[in-house]
Amino acid sequence: MKLTRIFEPITINKTEFKNRMVVSAMVTNYCNEDGTPTEKFMAYHEHKAKGGYGIIITEDFAVTRTAGASKTLAGLWEDRQVEPWRVFTDRIHKAGAKTIAQIYHAGRETSSQITGEQPIAPSAIKDPTMPETPREMSVNEIRDLEKAFVDAALRAKAAGFDGVEVHGAHGYLI
Ligand SMILES: Cc1cc2nc3c(=O)[nH]c(=O)nc-3n(C[C@H](O)[C@H](O)[C@H](O)COP(=O)(O)O)c2cc1C
Repeated sequence: MKLTRIFEPITINKTEFKNRMVVSAMVTNYCNEDGTPTEKFMAYHEHKAKGGYGIIITEDFAVTRTAGASKTLAGLWEDRQVEPWRVFTDRIHKAGAKTIAQIYHAGRETSSQITGEQPIAPSAIKDPTMPETPREMSVNEIRDLEKAFVDAALRAKAAGFDGVEVHGAHGYLI
């Protein structure tokens, strides 16, 4: 009887991963303020890929310019960000792993100190652990945000990511 299949390949929705060892999403704060990767960010993940992980899930990419809960976070809110992220995915692929972009909007779990704007949420109800009361979103804003998630996912695909993961924990907007 086999005790573990962790080193065996697995195919998920037509993509083959060389093993089942996964780096879960972890914010590094190693990105530039414009949402692009720094050399430090790329080297950090490349090191894990070279170490043998089959799947690397990145930290949560902001889907709009004001979606993030920190300033030096990954972002895919505009087309200009695709090429820098292509450099990253190429390096991970060359090192033998696949990589999945986590995407999110922090909603009321961020602050105007970070984004320059009052946070948004389904209702104007403050998280007791956060400094500000968010503003209630309009229906049009909700539709725009749906599109922002789709566009970010498409940019992730264009940048060479092997999938996306939608982050909906911690009270984040979705
Ligand atoms: C520094 C740090 C940053 C994290 N950032 C994220 C994140 O961006 N997205 C996410 O879904 N989980 C995040 N997590 C949670 C981890 O992915 C993981 O689920 C958690 O650490 C539990 O796994 P563990 O018991 O192996 O540590 C973070 C965890 C840590 C320690």
